Amino acid sequence: MGPLPVIKNNPDCGLILHRYWEETDKDEFLKKHGGYIRGVATSGTIGISSSLLCKLPNVEIISNFGVGYEQVDIPAALRRGIIVTNTPDVLTEEVADLAMGLLIGTLRRLPQATRFVREGKWKTGAFPLSPSLRGRIVGIVGLGRIGKAIARRLEASKVKVAYHGRNRQPDVPIPFYPTILELAQAVDTLILSAPGGRETRQIINANVLSALGANGVVINVSRGSLVDEAALAAALENHTILAAGLDVFADEPNVPVALLANDHVVCLPHVGSASVRTHDAMGQLVLENLLSWFKGEGPLSPVPETPWPSNDIARMLSAPPQ
Ligand code: 8YV
Repeated sequence: MGPLPVIKNNPDCGLILHRYWEETDKDEFLKKHGGYIRGVATSGTIGISSSLLCKLPNVEIISNFGVGYEQVDIPAALRRGIIVTNTPDVLTEEVADLAMGLLIGTLRRLPQATRFVREGKWKTGAFPLSPSLRGRIVGIVGLGRIGKAIARRLEASKVKVAYHGRNRQPDVPIPFYPTILELAQAVDTLILSAPGGRETRQIINANVLSALGANGVVINVSRGSLVDEAALAAALENHTILAAGLDVFADEPNVPVALLANDHVVCLPHVGSASVRTHDAMGQLVLENLLSWFKGEGPLSPVPETPWPSNDIARMLSAPPQ
């Protein structure tokens, strides 16, 4: 096989879809088709391994379903000039809604209250009084699009908000703490909405949990990798903190038994964006990124590391068709 043109300036390019996940003999599939594959669609939690990427020498674009893309080897993609796209914006409000639901559900113990009714216990007495969102100060870890949408909801609910992120955002009038530890000392509730990956691995550790204190609540709608789950389970068990609401886990779908068994934990199966409407919109954006790229019109939502549009590929795109 000769070298493939990187870009075809052809608006009618037909795409052939291979369902890699359904292939039983993946090595054989890669031997046969690997050299011809020009685009990859994947999801935030699956990504693409560096070894698989090596077997696809002519890939031009990785279109990622989800806003998180920590499972894509970005340095390797950059070295090869591969465009990486994700699906921001279309899921922001949905995930922020879920974060609020999980926060209120955890504090007011809604799943436990449902169980109480189902088990017929209401007939024998009232459900015990719950903790409250009222009077809390919430620290948001990661004030990106989703973090800001959560902050808006909290402010509308008359809840005080502070944040920690890589940088202070000068145009944001919310108190900023340069470290997670300082944030945890200043608040009683943490909502995690920062990206996963090496930089944020286990930033919620035993020290942070003890700084949060006995009234402390941790809500996670980002990635399980942000949390030292053993330290969290111990902090809940020892009443170092009060409760946790977790939509994401370090090794999904495996949830540590110590968290499952704790009555002060509300667990969800990674459903932050998972409504029909929002997953449809995310899937559509995955497809539109691929179509736009192969039509020669560039990616629609490249990740910040993708040096679009000022790279060699952009120059090739703007070149007249040969
Ligand atoms: C996706 C997510 O459902 O956007 C993200 O980063 O975690 C979710 O919205 C997930 O990536 C699907 O694998």
